[in-house]
Amino acid sequence: MPNDLTREAIRPRLTTRWLGQNYLYERELGSTNSRLEELAGQGAEHGTVLVADRQTEGRGRGQRSWHSPPGLNLYFSMLLRPDWPVGAARPVSLAAGVALAEALEPLLPGTPVLKWPNDLLYEGRKLAGILVEASLHGESIRHMIVGIGINVNEQPFPESLADLASSLSLAAGRTFDRGEVLALVLTRLEHWFDSLDRDGAAPTIARWQAYATWIGQSVSVRNGDAEVRGTAIGLDARGSLIVRDEQGRQQTVLSGDLARGD
Ligand code: BTN
Repeated sequence: MPNDLTREAIRPRLTTRWLGQNYLYERELGSTNSRLEELAGQGAEHGTVLVADRQTEGRGRGQRSWHSPPGLNLYFSMLLRPDWPVGAARPVSLAAGVALAEALEPLLPGTPVLKWPNDLLYEGRKLAGILVEASLHGESIRHMIVGIGINVNEQPFPESLADLASSLSLAAGRTFDRGEVLALVLTRLEHWFDSLDRDGAAPTIARWQAYATWIGQSVSVRNGDAEVRGTAIGLDARGSLIVRDEQGRQQTVLSGDLARGD
């Protein structure tokens, strides 16, 4: 069955060495991130992948919800138990963004864009989102849950999302086999997680910036009531955004919502 995400359907298609060797599938979950956090507490192994066909309480960044209807899209979370310091959480989310961009680009008629801190956009609309949640132990990471939602075959979107969201099928004008997309994405995710482990964050950040075509342009970043406006210079070694503000000062932005300036 082409659209099947069960363990029996996916395991034979995986070409990864460690990511998804423990592959779990549920027809319905509140949130794959929340459920995998519980499984992490019960000792689930590094590289565990948990996929749901549908989420009833899918979560996005900043307390937002993630629209997760059945049968159409991909919702999954990965458990990482790296031997990294606390500062590694941001590079992990950047590595996930690069992996998504590289895996999905060949399926699209044009090039996707990575928007800081980590949305994958196609023609200005959101194709995929990443939610990384780290469990800390002092100055080190106990484990990380990397949750990914990819809009695959959904179209049309509900009216409230129509101007904001895109899907592979909207962009490419055909439907996709979710299992094939998942296998492609997991291969690139493993590659970039291995790169972080082996070479640190610099190659990930360089590759990420290549998909961030808004760098060099005028942007605004809002964080609660605070707003920084200026020219996006790029990311620093930790993945924070550098903006040259209207007074010519370089500001390091740790988090916020990015929009085009004018
Ligand atoms: C965002 O862009 O706001 C992040 C969206 C992340 C959504 C995924 S879907 C699978 C995983 N489980 C969740 O509850 N959220 C993430």
